[in-house]
Amino acid sequence: MRLDKLICDCGVSTRKEAAAAVRAGQATVNGNVVREPDKKVDPGLDTVVFRGIPLVYRRFVYVMLNKPAGYVSATDDRSLPYVLELLPPEYRKRGLFPVGRLDRDTTGLLVMTDDGQTAHRALSPRRHVEKVYSFTCIAPLSPDAEAAFQAGIALGEGEECKPAILSPDGKRTAGTVTLTEGKYHQIKRMFERLGNKITTLKRETFAGIALDPALAPGEWRELTKEETATLLAAAGTDKPE
Ligand code: URA
Repeated sequence: MRLDKLICDCGVSTRKEAAAAVRAGQATVNGNVVREPDKKVDPGLDTVVFRGIPLVYRRFVYVMLNKPAGYVSATDDRSLPYVLELLPPEYRKRGLFPVGRLDRDTTGLLVMTDDGQTAHRALSPRRHVEKVYSFTCIAPLSPDAEAAFQAGIALGEGEECKPAILSPDGKRTAGTVTLTEGKYHQIKRMFERLGNKITTLKRETFAGIALDPALAPGEWRELTKEETATLLAAAGTDKPE
C-alpha cells in the first residue's frame, strides 16, 4: 500500500495533506525518513511514524451513531441532512457507510463501517441478525397483539414477516419489538396491520450491540474491541472462510 494512503487510512490527515507532509520529511518508515508519498509499505510489517506519532493501521473501522430524527441513512443527499454528515471528514474519506437503514424519523443505533463484507452479511436475511426497537404507539395494543407478532404478520401482497417479539409495557402504548429481518418500514407497517400507528421508534440494539446511553442524538463513537467482535461473530466474518 502507498505510504500516503496508509497515513490517510489511519485517520490522522487527508490523503493530500499526507502526501505534502511526507514530501516535507514528516514521516519515517522503520526509522528512516521517506519523502516519496507513493513509497510501498506493508501495514503488517513496517513501522510508520507520522509527525512523531507511531501509526496503528486498521483495515476497517466500525462506528456507532445515535441517529437523530430528520437524517436519512445515506452517504450523501442533495436536499436532506444525511448521517455521514455527522462524522468527521476522515471517516467520510475512508468510505464509511451505514449498515442498513433507519427511516428519516427513526432514531437510535446505526452502525457505520467501511467493511463491506461484514455489512452485507449482517444484513443478509439468512443470518437472522437481531434488532431491538423501542416504540410508542397511538392506541393501546390489543390483547392478542403479542400472539400476532409471534405468528408472523402478513403485510399484504404476499409479504409475510418472520415471527417477531412484541413486549408492550403496562399501558400497552409503548414497549419493544425484536426483529430478525429488516423490511421497508417494517415496524410501522406491522402496527398498521393491527389497526394501530407508531408515534416514535428508536433502535436500541443491533446484532447484540446496544446503543451507548452516553451518546446524545447526533453523537457517535467507535465500537469497542468487544463490540466489534460481537458484530463480526453475528455476521460470520470473525473467522476466515
Ligand atoms: N421499522 C420501521 O418501520 N422503520 C425503521 O426505521 C426501522 C424498522
